[in-house]
Formats: sequence, C-alpha cells, structure tokens
Amino acid sequence: MRDGVFVTGGTGFLGSYAIARILQDTELPVFAMVRARDRAHALERLWEALQLNLPDEDAFWALQPRLHPIPGDLHAPRLGLSDADHQRVMSEVDSVLHVAASLNRKSPRSCFNTNLRGSLSVLKLASALAAAGRLQRFTNVSTAAVAGKRQQQIVEEDRSIEWDRSDYDPYARTKKFVEHMSTELLDDALVLTLRPSSVLGDSRHDACWITDMVRAFCVLADLPAVPLDPDVRQDLVAGDWVGAGIARLHLEPELPHHTFHLSMGANAPTGRSLAAALAADGERLRFVRTLADPFHVLMRALDRLPRSKAQQIGAVMKVFWPYMTNDVVFDNQRASAILGPPPRFEDVCPGMVRYARSVKRRNVRVPLERRR
Ligand SMILES: NC(=O)c1ccc[n+]([C@@H]2O[C@H](COP(=O)([O-])OP(=O)(O)OC[C@H]3O[C@@H](n4cnc5c(N)ncnc54)[C@H](OP(=O)(O)O)[C@@H]3O)[C@@H](O)[C@H]2O)c1
Repeated sequence: MRDGVFVTGGTGFLGSYAIARILQDTELPVFAMVRARDRAHALERLWEALQLNLPDEDAFWALQPRLHPIPGDLHAPRLGLSDADHQRVMSEVDSVLHVAASLNRKSPRSCFNTNLRGSLSVLKLASALAAAGRLQRFTNVSTAAVAGKRQQQIVEEDRSIEWDRSDYDPYARTKKFVEHMSTELLDDALVLTLRPSSVLGDSRHDACWITDMVRAFCVLADLPAVPLDPDVRQDLVAGDWVGAGIARLHLEPELPHHTFHLSMGANAPTGRSLAAALAADGERLRFVRTLADPFHVLMRALDRLPRSKAQQIGAVMKVFWPYMTNDVVFDNQRASAILGPPPRFEDVCPGMVRYARSVKRRNVRVPLERRR
C-alpha cells in the first residue's frame, strides 16, 4: 500500500483508533468518509472521535495535510460522494478499510440498510478501484459474532461461518453476509477479513470510549449479586490493541491468512478473574448463577418498557446476554503471531470501570476550537 487509504466508520470507536494509528505510524494519506453536512463539519466530527488517541488539538491539526474528510453516507447512491471527491478517491487511493456498520442488533432494517446495502456500495467502489488496477487491499472489519449460536467452544477462523447455523441477531446475520459478498465480488486475494470479539476499554489509560458493552459491564459490576456463572469465559479485548491491529494488518503487504480474529481467545478472562482484578479497587463482586434466568426475564421485560433509563439497561443487557453466558471464545493465534498477544483484560477493566463511573457512562468530548 503506497497510496491513500479510504476509510469508513472513522467517527466510531474502532475506526477512529485505526485512523489514528495509520496517521501516526505511516506517511499515508487517509480519506475518511464521514456523515456530515460539509467538509468542516466532517473535520469537527473526526476531531471528536480521534481526540482519545491524540495528545491535543495541535496534534490533530498537524495531521491535517494527510487527513482528508469526505462527506458521505453508506445509504446514499455512490456513497453520496461528490464528483470531485469520487474522482480524487479513484486516483489517490489504493486500499479500502471498511469499518462502518450498524451495531443496532434490535433493528433488522438498520442492519439491512447499513451493513448490506451500504457495504455493497463500498464494495462497488472497491471493485471500480480493482478494475482500474489500483486496489491493493479491501479490509472488511467484521465481527466474531458471525460464528452464530454456539456453546463452550474455542472457535477458529476457518470454522466460523456455517450457513446452517442460527445467528444471534440481524447484526450478526448481516455481517456474515458482508463477508460472503466481499469474497464473491472481489478477488479473494485482495480481501482481508478482521473479526473483533467484544471490544472495550483501553490498556494505555483509564480513559476509553463508552460503548454499550462498557455500560453493560458497569451495570453488572454495580449489582449486589452478579447473575452469571463466574467460570464462563468472556472474550473481551482492549480497544487500543484491536485498533492498532486493524491498522497494521490492513497495511501489512504480505499476510499468511485472509481472516483474523482480533480477540482474547484461550486467555479470555472469566467472571471470577475479572472480579479478582476489580477487588484491588475495593469492588466486591458476588456471583449467584441461579439468578441468571430470572435476571434475563427481568431484562427482557425492562426492554419492553417505554423509553427510559431502565428500558435502556434492559435493551443493552438483553443484547449482550448470549455473549456473556455461552462460554464461546475466538482463537487469536493468527493475530497474536503478528501483533503480539493482546493485553490481559484483567489489567484493563479496573481503569475502565473507574473512568466510566467518573464520566457517568457518557462519552465526554472537547469540541474543535481553532478554525483553519
Ligand atoms: N465495538 C465492538 O465491540 C465490535 C466488536 C466486533 C466487531 N465490531 C465491528 O467493528 C466495526 C466498528 O464498530 P464500532 O464499535 O467502532 O462501532 P461505532 O462506534 O458504532 O461506529 C460505527 C461507525 O459506522 C458509521 N456509520 C454508521 N452508519 C453509517 C452510514 N449510513 N454512513 C456512513 N457511516 C455510517 C458511524 O458513523 P456516525 O458516527 O455518523 O454514526 C460510525 O463511524 C463495525 O463493523 C463492527 O461490526 C465492533
């Protein structure tokens, strides 16, 4: 990869980590497609997303010569790119890093529109680059959830997709089909598939992106009794390792495989090991596994309430419940051999919980000050 990288999803959690790494570790230009009114608005949105990964606003401006915000939308024809931006992408880009998605597991419509219809438009752009002889790589950030409903397994990359297996939700189902579309529509050799497991926290500092998964983790940690089996493994992996992994693998010229799990794998923590890590902060987690079924019923009932704080907790817990109870982890030997092993999540979670509580489980962002 010697030319620009076209990136979708740069205003999100993992896309922003990946963009920051590409800009900081290489000299490559990044063309970041952002839902925005115009270029200035796109730049503001990128700053809001990237600031966790940059020391200050000056560092953001210093990256400007190579960070090109492009207003666009996965739902729009030709991604909503202007003629000028489209032309620029076609002549200055030689790889596509597709990170954007709808993670709205409750909405088949949103997953269909964004993950299927939107990804098809990104693939059409990548195909046009391939037809012009420019495309070096198309990286699809997928999800370990494409492995579908399972119990007590370590899933390997090549045994993940099984078309007869049921999926957890529309999100997993549509992401699975995007993997299929990518290799059907592009030369297999150009396609790289990266499948993160459940990503949360940051091993470099307490401050982290507050995702629904972080909220779910904190809700459980705050309960007087955690309704889970403490010996079930939880494939939780830090955002900075995954973000750096996406950037590095996307740019690595020769790779031994076309699919990688970005996950904790066999070293995934259990509830028990996480509780031990949190105990250093004075947290006392008590597990009562017999409460699992009643808790699940309660969360489903909360999710049916009119929109409220309780309903939101129910919705989040309901979505993540299968991931917390099924004891399924995703083998990470391929990625670890190249990136080094991920940081122990037991070392990440105390800072993450402290930080999430300090910001009341909301993302705190500093607006862009200086106009150029
Ligand atoms: N986070 C995890 O634990 C996890 C685990 C496994 C896999 N993944 C995968 O990693 C990728 C990134 O996830 P994330 O956690 O970073 O999600 P996120 O924070 O919700 O970010 C999603 C990104 O997609 C963009 N997007 C959504 N709809 C769009 C549209 N119509 N047009 C243009 N952009 C659109 C969002 O833009 P706006 O800012 O405009 O909404 C945002 O930049 C996804 O493909 C997801 O499946 C994530």
